Amino acid sequence: MPRTVYYTVTTLDGYIADPSDSLDWLLRQPSDETDDTFFAGIGATVMGATTYEWLLRNLEGPWPYSMPTWVMTHRELPMPSKDEDSEDPDIRFAKGSVADHYVEMCMATGDHDLWIMGGGDLAGQFVDEGLLDEIITWTAPVTLGSGRPLLPRRLDLELLEVDRKGPFVVSRHKVIGALAEDQ
Ligand SMILES: NC(=O)c1ccc[n+]([C@@H]2O[C@H](COP(=O)([O-])OP(=O)(O)OC[C@H]3O[C@@H](n4cnc5c(N)ncnc54)[C@H](OP(=O)(O)O)[C@@H]3O)[C@@H](O)[C@H]2O)c1
Repeated sequence: MPRTVYYTVTTLDGYIADPSDSLDWLLRQPSDETDDTFFAGIGATVMGATTYEWLLRNLEGPWPYSMPTWVMTHRELPMPSKDEDSEDPDIRFAKGSVADHYVEMCMATGDHDLWIMGGGDLAGQFVDEGLLDEIITWTAPVTLGSGRPLLPRRLDLELLEVDRKGPFVVSRHKVIGALAEDQ
């Protein structure tokens, strides 16, 4: 059974982008640390419209993901531009309940994991349906004070792993469920 993992970089105060969707605070961090093991285990990914539009605006070169990619949106969004001889990216636009698309997403992973790229509310929609297994965060040594939230839900988590990669604290948490006080 593939795991469904929300994997992202966050600031210490829990934002994944600033209020104007800037990631400048992230892009200036040293980038010599990679996570090849995680990405080798991913078979499909899902992101929200803002994240997709950020990628379209900031991509230098071709679409970087060969895996099936779902983009959740209510709108008609463009496909990334591509070279004439390169393959069409496998991008599938969808809307509505993430539960309605979940089986198809899992089948597309080919027994690898499903990566929720963000944003935070999209990850929360998977939590609401009981479909999120783990959260992996790279915490940057930055605070923003406001911005796009990491995960706007009230949850109990179990810490499974902590590591340091350059300036980042990398942690892996299992999702237990709704905060005990809320049950
Ligand atoms: N730090 C990191 O590593 C990292 C990782 C990922 C993203 N980011 C950044 O964080 C920000 C995230 O933006 P965000 O919080 O706005 O989240 P987002 O999930 O990227 O986009 C939210 C939008 O997606 C669409 N959407 C979400 N769920 C949907 C559903 N079930 N059905 C149909 N449409 C749905 C809606 O747009 P429409 O209704 O307009 O279609 C919604 O307003 C972006 O700036 C992104 O670049 C950072």
